Amino acid sequence: MFSELFYPRQAVLVSASSSEKTNLTAVEYFMPVSEKPPVVALSLHNTSLTLDLICTSMEFVVAIPSEGLNEAVLLCGTTSGKYIDKFAEARLTPMRAKRVSAPLVLEAYANLECKVLSYNSSGDHTVVVGEVLEIHPPKEEREGEPLLFNLGGKRLFGFKQH
Ligand SMILES: Cc1cc2nc3c(=O)[nH]c(=O)nc-3n(C[C@H](O)[C@H](O)[C@H](O)COP(=O)(O)O)c2cc1C
Repeated sequence: MFSELFYPRQAVLVSASSSEKTNLTAVEYFMPVSEKPPVVALSLHNTSLTLDLICTSMEFVVAIPSEGLNEAVLLCGTTSGKYIDKFAEARLTPMRAKRVSAPLVLEAYANLECKVLSYNSSGDHTVVVGEVLEIHPPKEEREGEPLLFNLGGKRLFGFKQH
């Protein structure tokens, strides 16, 4: 995998929903791409249920995992929401967002409510670009630290930023 060249990097959780289904997944192909307005980009495999839900609802939430969510991130990144309820299995709490249908993750360090600006195929993945409408909580109220991840073989390590 050529993408191994880019570790370590941040992994986030991305949630999306339809009237029937709420789901979230782990995403390491993620980055901010504009400050004003705030815009993020992420890349999801074409088979991802989360991608389906995002392209249908045109909304999503990016939850930045806090310390201690390694196992939850791993679970969300190794099983599809086609088969399980990931919020329940990962013991994460969905919370109503202010401006989008996708849920916030209560346990996360921060949550970003986003609306889709575009999505474009890029090989086996699709790149989704979204404007950030809301950020929770404000900087001064954030507790703990976000996690960075380093993937070595099949092992996932979480460690603090310095
Ligand atoms: C740490 C980590 C990061 C991941 N990053 C991505 C990613 O950036 N894009 C992607 O499509 N899949 C990524 N995956 C794999 C998906 O999360 C996985 O295929 C998931 O089962 C898709 O779930 P869904 O069908 O419910 O959307 C990652 C997995 C892990 C463990």
